[in-house]
Amino acid sequence: MIEITNLNYNYPDGRPALEGINLCINPGEKVALVGANGAGKSTLLLHLNGVLQGTGRVCVNGLEVNKKNLAKIRSLVGMVFQNPDDQLFSLTIGEDVAFGPTYQGLDAQTVADKVKTALEDVHLAGFEDRHPFHLSGGEKKRASIATVLSMSPDYLVLDEPTAGLDPKSRRELIALLKNLPQTLIIATHDMQMALELSDRVILLHHGKLAADGSSREILSNDSLLQQNDLA
Ligand SMILES: Nc1ncnc2c1ncn2[C@@H]1O[C@H](COP(=O)(O)OP(=O)(O)OP(=O)(O)O)[C@@H](O)[C@H]1O
Ligand SMILES: [Mg+2]
Repeated sequence: MIEITNLNYNYPDGRPALEGINLCINPGEKVALVGANGAGKSTLLLHLNGVLQGTGRVCVNGLEVNKKNLAKIRSLVGMVFQNPDDQLFSLTIGEDVAFGPTYQGLDAQTVADKVKTALEDVHLAGFEDRHPFHLSGGEKKRASIATVLSMSPDYLVLDEPTAGLDPKSRRELIALLKNLPQTLIIATHDMQMALELSDRVILLHHGKLAADGSSREILSNDSLLQQNDLA
């Protein structure tokens, strides 16, 4: 379970980005996080694996997200950043996808198997030796997702996973995510995906929780969406 209690975060320039967030996400849930540009979605996700730390508490499986628990937290929570250039840092895609399972201490053969499966899952089989900078935007996005799938984390946190994907890749990604057993938390502007993939939507507005409930109800509530700059 992920438990967020009274989370507040100001960026170093003093800009408040999250205010009084209280949330619980249960194992197995597939949750969509929506909100206008600048609402705080990425900022909130970055607290789930300790890239950012605000005031209040974030706990994953009872473990508080803090510097001391960072290694454990990062093997429980796989994060796909909004920008693939924040994710891919090795000389080859194979090394990037191997990084997580290697860090988890798995043996070389298991790591190699996980890399192969993760690249196949995002339809990038055979991309092991390619340089990350030499991929298209959508290929980078899919490679970023593979770097997290290879770790088999309990929680998959994805920031705009379908942004920049062509219609076929988008459909394949949604099908893949739908069938994953893991808990998913997905920040997105892709409302169709949110409806298809998740029963629950969390709506942020100006750093605050504006709504939390059934996807169908929230995403069909035009006045709520308008009030929150989403329609
Ligand atoms: N590094 C930073 N320094 C200062 N302010 C920041 C920084 N990153 C984000 N912000 C501000 O924090 C607020 C929340 O930004 P965040 O990136 O979390 O929004 P978002 O909901 O993910 O938006 P988008 O849909 O555009 O991805 C915005 O007002 C943004 O300008
Ligand atoms: Mg964002």
